[in-house]
Amino acid sequence: RTITPYANEPFTDFTRPENKQAMEAAIAKVKSTLGRDLPLHVGGEKIHTEGKLVSINPGRADEVIARVSKASQQLAEQAMEHALTAFESWKKVSARERAEYLFRAAHLMRERKHEFSALMVLEAGKNYVEADVDCAEAIDFMEFYAREAIRLSEVNIHHPLTKIDSEENMLTYIPLGVGVVIPPWNFPLAICVGMTTSAIVSGNTVLLKPSSLTPAIAHKFVELMEEVGLPTGVLNFIPGSSAEVGDYLTKHPKTRFISFTGSKEVGLHINRLAAETAEGQIWIKRVIAEMGGKDGIVVDETADLEAAAAAIVASAFGFQGQKCSSGSRAIIVESVYDQVVERVIELTNQLVIGLPEQNFAVGPVSDKSAYDKILNYIEIGKTEGRLVAGGGAATEAGNGFYIQPTVFVDVDSKARIMKEEIFGPVLAISKAQDWQDAIAKYNDTEFGLTGSFFSTDEVRIVEALESMHCGNLYINRKCTGALVGVHPFGGFNMSGTDSKAGGHDYLLLFTQAKLMSRKV
Ligand code: SER
Repeated sequence: RTITPYANEPFTDFTRPENKQAMEAAIAKVKSTLGRDLPLHVGGEKIHTEGKLVSINPGRADEVIARVSKASQQLAEQAMEHALTAFESWKKVSARERAEYLFRAAHLMRERKHEFSALMVLEAGKNYVEADVDCAEAIDFMEFYAREAIRLSEVNIHHPLTKIDSEENMLTYIPLGVGVVIPPWNFPLAICVGMTTSAIVSGNTVLLKPSSLTPAIAHKFVELMEEVGLPTGVLNFIPGSSAEVGDYLTKHPKTRFISFTGSKEVGLHINRLAAETAEGQIWIKRVIAEMGGKDGIVVDETADLEAAAAAIVASAFGFQGQKCSSGSRAIIVESVYDQVVERVIELTNQLVIGLPEQNFAVGPVSDKSAYDKILNYIEIGKTEGRLVAGGGAATEAGNGFYIQPTVFVDVDSKARIMKEEIFGPVLAISKAQDWQDAIAKYNDTEFGLTGSFFSTDEVRIVEALESMHCGNLYINRKCTGALVGVHPFGGFNMSGTDSKAGGHDYLLLFTQAKLMSRKV
């Protein structure tokens, strides 16, 4: 079979009635399966335990999505043993063969796309478009990393070493070992799939600890990998508490790497634990961490102001502002400030809040603790800026964690709501004297994930491209929605370890280079 060039999975157009109906049908189908008990997968064995994680619908808090068995330390240890054993054979499987599992899984996921998306609508509170984009990204990651693994295995052909007469030299990328994969709930399929399959296709074996908020969709992916025949022990599914299972495995002497996506606090905690050398450990653990952001959009007076306002609103409130790429700040130059703010308020007020399964623009936030945290930040915002839209809970939207899209203006660039990641539908807007001042304010952050610059002035655009310090910098477009292969994703500073998911150097993070030299 020849491998076609990589291309992004197209998004579904839900303005077409047949697509909307297909999604509604998928939601109805998934609804009929809710409330099941889901097991751990440890070395090919499905294990049910007493302790359960109860996953609920954040948009309808009395609806149980699934009860997922929790791993104990003992089961985590068992999973580690299986992963260690499986590694000994999996590392010898050719890249092409490993890639085939991903191609097959991508194919099946594409065929059942709405079913995967529907589960995210119910478990994560995504509307149709957001769920569909998440699913498309999951497919993209598998298609992309499968091709990357093959390319990396042929790297000698593409990037020959400098030749000398007396030797034959070769460099190959070999896997690391057992990795602990800890994905987030906000892209509960895409990022889970991307983090897991990148590690696996590079020849490692994985202990997957899904987010406690979205274990059902992660389990559905694990079932898919089982269906395509991934050998036993290569992927182990061990939901559980961070303190018990996560910390235990992070500290484990046999853990070779930890791949994490989530908050700055947890990322730094993992990094600290991983830096300690455990008894019997013979390597330095690698930590790949994608953490938070305080992303923002800068607008100057030459910009297309309508496009800028639309991008600010889309970036701030898409999936309720719960993307690490969400634009929770906007910095606008004085001369067009009032005009852009007015339009942002209008567009924000047009957003309708309600149940994800009915495809409202804005749905619930992830859970009670996020809900409380965001509402608390809104109270802080009321002391730091002028509230012009939203400002509290949206209880009329239903029995879920609904918060109004909220906008504060005239916020000082040093204010807490300009500095701290809120991870919810809260936008803070600051005024700048001019475009240079706006860029300086944009850069005044410990994070550095995404940013946008709106301008039509070529000189300024060139300057912004150079000086705005973030991993994903966009000109005249929103700061969310990175596409695999097109916009390798990941940020600087406290946004993580500068990795680029969906980029050509990503798999190197899960491999080590071995040079083999032979005298002739
Ligand atoms: N990759 C996503 C985006 O760009 C965020 O994780 O929006």
